[in-house]
Amino acid sequence: MPILAIETSCDETAVAIYDNQKGLLSHRIFSQIEIHQPYGGVVPEIASRDHMQKLLPLTKAAIRDAEISLSDISGVCYTAGPGLMGALLVGATFASALATAWQLPVLGVHHMEGHLLAPMLDNPAPSFPFLALLVSGGHTQLVSVKKFGVYQILGESVDDAAGEAFDKVAKMLALNYPGGPEIAKLAVQGNITRFDFPRPMLQKPDCNFSFSGLKTHTWQLIQKQKILDLQTKADIAAGFQEAVADVLIAKTQRALQKTGYTQFVIAGGVSANQRLREKLLQALPDTIQQFFPRFEFCTDNAAMIAYVGSHRLAHGQTTNSPIFAQARWSIEDLPPL
Ligand code: KG4
Ligand code: ZN
Repeated sequence: MPILAIETSCDETAVAIYDNQKGLLSHRIFSQIEIHQPYGGVVPEIASRDHMQKLLPLTKAAIRDAEISLSDISGVCYTAGPGLMGALLVGATFASALATAWQLPVLGVHHMEGHLLAPMLDNPAPSFPFLALLVSGGHTQLVSVKKFGVYQILGESVDDAAGEAFDKVAKMLALNYPGGPEIAKLAVQGNITRFDFPRPMLQKPDCNFSFSGLKTHTWQLIQKQKILDLQTKADIAAGFQEAVADVLIAKTQRALQKTGYTQFVIAGGVSANQRLREKLLQALPDTIQQFFPRFEFCTDNAAMIAYVGSHRLAHGQTTNSPIFAQARWSIEDLPPL
C-alpha cells in the first residue's frame, strides 16, 4: 500500500509516494536555491514561507504522477528533524493534518536516517551491516549501520560540517550558494598542487573530523593573493576540495579497518561531489563494495524519507504526539525497526 512522504527540513520542498512492494511510485522536488541565492545562504523564515506555498501543489502533482487515488494512501510520513524548526513545522503540520483528515497513521522520520538509507532505493542496494559516510550541509559523520534503526556514530566533525565548509569557502571566493557544486565546477580547471592545504586531524587515531582550520587557512590564503583571478580561484577551489576529500577518505579507511565491514555507502549533499567519488574509487581496496546514491537522492529529497517511513509504518511505528518536530536529534536515539 502506498504511503505519502513530505520533506521540508531546509531549502527543498519535496514529496514522494512509495509502495513497500512496488518501490518508489513518484517523487517531486522544488529547490528554493534561487530564492535564497541573493542572501548568500538559507534564510529560515523565507524557507518556511515557501514550503507553505509549495507543499499542496507538489503533493497533488506527486499523487497524480503515481497514478493512485487518495483512498489508496495507507500512511503519511514527514521529516521531523534535524533541521530548521520553522521549516520542519510546516511539513509536520501539513502531514499531521492530512493524516488526521484521512484517518491514517503518521510518522515523523529522521532526516539523516533518510540520507543513510537512500542507497536502498537503488539496485544493487547494500545489505546490513555497512559503513556510511554522511556528508551534508549540517553533518559529517561516519556511522556503523548495524541494521535498520541501529546506528553507531564512529566519528564526526568537531566543528563545521564538510558541506558547510564548502559553502563558506565558496562565499570567500564570491561564488553562489550553495557552494559545494560551485567549488566542484570551478575546481575542474584548477591545479591541485599550486597551493598547500592542511589535512586536519589525520594524526589523531580516531574517526573525527575538523574543517574550521582548513576554512581559516583558505581565508588567509585568499587574503595573501595580490590578484584573485579566475585561475587562482580555481586553484584554491581545487586544492581545498582535494584536502576535504583526502581527510574524508582517510577517516573512512580507518573506520572500515575498525569495523571490518566490506560495504561502504556515502550519502548526503556532499556525496554528489564527483572528485570525492573518483578518489574513493581509487583509494578503497576492491574488497570493499562501494555504493553511491543516484545524484537526485544525494541532496535533500522525499524519496529517502518515504523509504524509511514506509518500512517503519509497516512495522506499526507511528508518532503519537500531535505535531512532532525536533531541530536537534541524534541518529543513535532512533528505535530499531
Ligand atoms: O544533504 P543536503 O542537500 O542538505 C542537508 O541536509 O544539509 O546537503 C547540502 C550540502 C550543501 O552544503 C552543499 O554545498 C553540499 O551539500 N553539496 C556539495 C555538492 N553538492 C551539494 N558539496 C560538494 N560538492 C558537490 N557537488
Ligand atoms: Zn540533507
